[in-house]
Amino acid sequence: MDTTRHDVDFLVIGSGIAGLIFALEAAPHGRVAIITKKHRAESSTNYAQGGIAAVMGDDDSLELHVQDTLRAGAGLCDERVVRTIVAEGPPVVRRLLDWGVEFSRETGAAGRFDLGREGGHSKRRVLHAGDITGREIERALLAAAGAEPNITIHEDVIAIDLITSGRRGLPGPNRCLGCYALDERARAVGLFAAPLTLLATGGSGKVYLYTSNPDIASGDGVAMAYRAGAPVANLEFIQFHPTCLYHPKAKSFLISEAVRGEGAVLRDLRGNPFMARYHEMADLAPRDIVARAIDAEMKKQGADHVLLDITHRDPEFVRSRFPNIYEQCLAFGFDMTKEPLPVVPAAHYQCGGVLASVDGETAIPGLLAAGEVAHTGLHGANRLASNSLLEAVVVAHRAALLAPRKLDELGRTVPPLPAWESGDAADPDELVVVNHNWDEIRRLMWDYVGIVRSNRRLERAAARIENLQREINEYYWDYKVTPDLIELRNLALVAALIVECAQRRHESRGLHYTLDYPEPDDARERHDTVLSRG
Ligand code: FAD
Ligand code: SIN
Repeated sequence: MDTTRHDVDFLVIGSGIAGLIFALEAAPHGRVAIITKKHRAESSTNYAQGGIAAVMGDDDSLELHVQDTLRAGAGLCDERVVRTIVAEGPPVVRRLLDWGVEFSRETGAAGRFDLGREGGHSKRRVLHAGDITGREIERALLAAAGAEPNITIHEDVIAIDLITSGRRGLPGPNRCLGCYALDERARAVGLFAAPLTLLATGGSGKVYLYTSNPDIASGDGVAMAYRAGAPVANLEFIQFHPTCLYHPKAKSFLISEAVRGEGAVLRDLRGNPFMARYHEMADLAPRDIVARAIDAEMKKQGADHVLLDITHRDPEFVRSRFPNIYEQCLAFGFDMTKEPLPVVPAAHYQCGGVLASVDGETAIPGLLAAGEVAHTGLHGANRLASNSLLEAVVVAHRAALLAPRKLDELGRTVPPLPAWESGDAADPDELVVVNHNWDEIRRLMWDYVGIVRSNRRLERAAARIENLQREINEYYWDYKVTPDLIELRNLALVAALIVECAQRRHESRGLHYTLDYPEPDDARERHDTVLSRG
């Protein structure tokens, strides 16, 4: 069967903040194709609430932001990377303004941004657009990309695997030459050939049963890069957001940390505040500490949630500062100006990812990575709130600065590439198999590889995931690929990699907490966990 081939200079996989920024900045240097597996706006970026951290306040400094990031990262941040990204925060925020992003400003004070506060930050430094910051960023960047003739966006196209010359037996040194992708509308696998590919596929929250992430977050980028031979790192550090709405229909709707930044207090079911017992920053402690404290309080009281209380603030202020959260909660029957909200932690952010430099370079020539899919060293063992949008913008911007030189080195021509081959059978059972395995992975990751881990739970998880992977792989090669099957295969691989990273870390640090090694071990364990295939 013929495989349709699309040739471009830059292939971007993903249309969240990282993919769009790279595309916009690379477009003057060549043709850009963005492939994205759903509607172009569907991304974690689109749901970001709190905002983007950057030093803009008069009482703030780059050094304070650096120190807050290092403290949250619990000894594993790469300080050089932290300093670079923090320093480039203010100029990249100005780039966002150039592209039309409208951040909230203080009323009455001409031009001054209204800076929010979140956990782990010693100052107010979070630029936001009400409580729908991500939606505003996506809107502006998509509009800018739509006006750029060199950018084409292909929706409903899901990347299946990267194409590397080494693995395909092509002559010359190993490099990435693009990807195979399933076009859902055409119901065919196409080939996107490019000398330079940016992975901007976001995170992997869907690996867990309860997550704040949208459905697109199935870890495809980490899985594809790992299969292609790129090292991945620190996947044990999964951040659980402390406060998602506890309601059977709410799909873990996020209640932004900015709500605590404006004074909300966590209480147990008897109404007692508890965070001051766990950390001197109380309700604004770093996320790993707050999520573990909530987990401990819930276990202590046999409760299935705790309460988040902002009823002491002026209702008009709450409604105007958090209009989306207020409306969403109201739709689920909770008026947050009158009653505390029931909340629970849920998987939120992947601190590790594909090993990449602060310029987005991975170990495979021709393959860049930016945004949540990448591990640059900024976050260490725990990401500081609102530092991920910052990292995505800075790294995508730097990768785009590098792109023209990379294109000169690699050349614009991509050689003939083999057509896609897979099983031909269509399987009537497919849905039930996919659904069953999907649910099993997510539940076992939640139960065994969650906020509190142990050797035995990790062993159990590893054994079950190995069986599931065997079954999924047999199935994968026999039948026609579908988006569900592609995601399931990736989800299983990422789950296995998270467990393997967790098993290799014999200590508790940041987001990785295990009952068998409850303390950090600086002498032996203060290093990244790096995995690569073969
Ligand atoms: P995403 O925005 O997730 O985009 C990934 C893109 O890749 C999507 O277009 C997706 O469809 C596409 N894709 C994935 N796999 C494939 C494939 N196989 N083929 C084709 N396309 C693919 N961070 C902050 O700093 N501040 C916040 O306030 C904040 N709030 C958040 C609130 C929520 C509810 C969530 C879920 C996250 C929040 N985060 C926040 C984290 C932050 O939003 C993300 O880390 C960031 O947006 C990731 O951007 P990205 O460009 O890397 O990926
Ligand atoms: C939030 O608004 O609480 C999310 C912020 C983040 O994940 O950085």
